[in-house]
Amino acid sequence: MTSIATDRYAVIGFPIKHSLSPFIHGLFAKQTGQALTYARLEVAPENLEQTVTEFFESGGKGLNVTVPHKQTVALLARFRTPRAEIAGAVNTLAVQEQGLLGDNTDGAGLLTDLTRNLSLDVANTRILLLGAGGAARGVLGPLLSAGPDFIQIANRNVDRAAQLAGEFRLLGNVDGCGFDAISTDSTFDLILNATSASLQDTIPPIPPAVIGPTTLCYEMAYGKGDTAFTRWARSAGAGRAETGWGMLVEQAAEAFHLWRGIRPDTKPVLEAVKGSGQRTTDGGQ
Ligand code: ATR
Repeated sequence: MTSIATDRYAVIGFPIKHSLSPFIHGLFAKQTGQALTYARLEVAPENLEQTVTEFFESGGKGLNVTVPHKQTVALLARFRTPRAEIAGAVNTLAVQEQGLLGDNTDGAGLLTDLTRNLSLDVANTRILLLGAGGAARGVLGPLLSAGPDFIQIANRNVDRAAQLAGEFRLLGNVDGCGFDAISTDSTFDLILNATSASLQDTIPPIPPAVIGPTTLCYEMAYGKGDTAFTRWARSAGAGRAETGWGMLVEQAAEAFHLWRGIRPDTKPVLEAVKGSGQRTTDGGQ
């Protein structure tokens, strides 16, 4: 008797137990009638290469990758998409004919959430990006491809902001500064918090003058209810303050599309995820 193996997927991270990716991909699979399994793999950094190799050698089809492995895993892919190269990080691995492909769907997920779910036309906007770590780097390419007028990167460590801005300057009008040098000439259309300050229940010191009644403030992490940043943004008069649930679901949909060639309907899944009551912190998977 022959049995047909079900395609296997997983998310790897350290820690991983709060990941919502199995829940999200389970809903996508059900909705689209795809037969697959999706597991959580808690993998310490020293075991990453061996685990990834074994997963694919044993027939696994794809992995999502989260903190702290997104940079390291990029080196294990045979090919990387241009957006993964630009981000310097991989959050999705997929078996392809030519070998293992590394992609990064985080920035595209954010852009889809902003444009489709939150109806923000990013073209010609002024964007303030708080933070200059991996989360900020991962979204800069896709954001710039949407044609904003200006992106100002503000970070506690000014050199890191200047360095990141310099790397992306060829793609658009970007500069980097400290929180004390944020432009207050006019309000920003979009303020993205890509720092991990909310995990410490604190906010970067931003002048309230950067916020206006039409400003969308977006926390790239997500969790139950508000964060320190979204609370502050509302009290400072922001038109809207959102957490990153939509980015989480949309980046997953991009990965699902890469793996299965089908684009799931994210709306019901986003509602289910928001209602799931879980708290997670990585802003990616
Ligand atoms: P990630 O991959 O999540 O971006 P990271 O690379 O460690 O993680 O970057 C964390 C970001 O949050 C950095 O921009 C960091 O600022 P520094 O570069 O100055 O360290 C920022 N950050 C962390 N805690 C912060 C805080 N309490 N206030 C402001 N910024 C903070």
